[in-house]
Amino acid sequence: MAHEVRGVVAAAKGRPVTVETIEVPDPGPGEALVTVQACGVCHTDLHYREGGINDEFPFLLGHEAAGVVEAVGPDVTDPAPGDFVILNWRAVCGECRACRRGRPWYCFATANATQPMTLDGRPLSPALGIGAFAEKTLVAAGQATKVDARARPEAAGLLGCGVMAGLGAALLTGEVGPGDSVAVFGCGGVGDAAVAGARLAGAARIIAVDLDAAKLDLATAFGATDTVNASEVDPVEAIRALTGGHGADVCIEAVGHPEVMEQAFYARDLAGTLVQVGVPNPDMRIDLAMIDFFGRGGRLKPSWYGDCLPTRDFPLLIDLYLQGRLDLDRFVSETIPLDGVEEAFGRMERGEVLRSVVVL
Ligand SMILES: NC(=O)c1ccc[n+]([C@@H]2O[C@H](COP(=O)([O-])OP(=O)(O)OC[C@H]3O[C@@H](n4cnc5c(N)ncnc54)[C@H](O)[C@@H]3O)[C@@H](O)[C@H]2O)c1
Ligand SMILES: [Zn+2]
Ligand SMILES: [Zn+2]
Repeated sequence: MAHEVRGVVAAAKGRPVTVETIEVPDPGPGEALVTVQACGVCHTDLHYREGGINDEFPFLLGHEAAGVVEAVGPDVTDPAPGDFVILNWRAVCGECRACRRGRPWYCFATANATQPMTLDGRPLSPALGIGAFAEKTLVAAGQATKVDARARPEAAGLLGCGVMAGLGAALLTGEVGPGDSVAVFGCGGVGDAAVAGARLAGAARIIAVDLDAAKLDLATAFGATDTVNASEVDPVEAIRALTGGHGADVCIEAVGHPEVMEQAFYARDLAGTLVQVGVPNPDMRIDLAMIDFFGRGGRLKPSWYGDCLPTRDFPLLIDLYLQGRLDLDRFVSETIPLDGVEEAFGRMERGEVLRSVVVL
């Protein structure tokens, strides 16, 4: 039996999104049906609407979500109906060459639901294989990760994408450790999560870089020890000055811009780590002297989804949140209804919010 529910659909390139009645099938083998409680608005949703990801319209948007499992397919034992879950967009397969090498966070064959959700009989393309701006959504069972049900859904759901990407950029990809100096370029939801991750890891100095003074204030609230306004000063010089002339041990690029990538490259200390978590456009290029790659040493590391493993990391991070050691609530700038997504895109583009979160 299909369930008729309301969902936010991007019907055509650039056209404002609308709330439509969609059909969500009962879960088949390997699938889970989830009643969505909250879902954050992410740039990636807007990229889908603008045709920047692919042309497979219509899209069912939304992918930073938490909810309760309503039903599972006949072969599914985990999760179980009634579980409080965070949805993830990298459900690892356990069998591809990355998984077999013991590096499942790189899984090259991640799973999504096999049955389509539909609009008037037409298959919808769910954003990042999730589609959670909807009262119910159908995912692969491995995309629904059980966590402690005492967490607020609107905060917990954010771990499903941008906040996990930022936390993981610092904790997992960057391997920030006690006493390290860290510079984070771009203090949106992802960058601020990287700041929070660096604080959790015991970094001694956390330098936040942004063009917007209000964003720098927020980064300070998440644990930045110093701020650099890159619209006023050269951030590379400023970071060197704050680190005894050397540069930071770990620099995290959370903007997705070649100029910022270059700044982050040169703001590192010798043998330091550069983490790229901002997503570039396909036409972006950087032009660096090869001798600087060699001569400066260290590591250059792109970070997919913060190199997270949802089954390992979501429950742990929710426990830290419940213990008051990770402030996920601060990422929730506002809560909005399902029909507020289009206006929320505008506030996101103007930089007025870290995250608007749809509450159902
Ligand atoms: N790697 C991943 O898996 C992953 C996951 C989610 C998001 N992302 C990416 O992370 C990036 C950040 O996402 P977000 O939600 O925080 O975006 P955002 O737009 O909220 O934040 C970007 C911040 O960068 C600042 N900024 C812009 N230009 C700058 C410059 N030249 N120097 C310094 N700061 C500058 C902006 O003022 C803003 O505060 C995006 O590219 C997004 O696509 C990556
Ligand atoms: Zn795999
Ligand atoms: Zn996202």
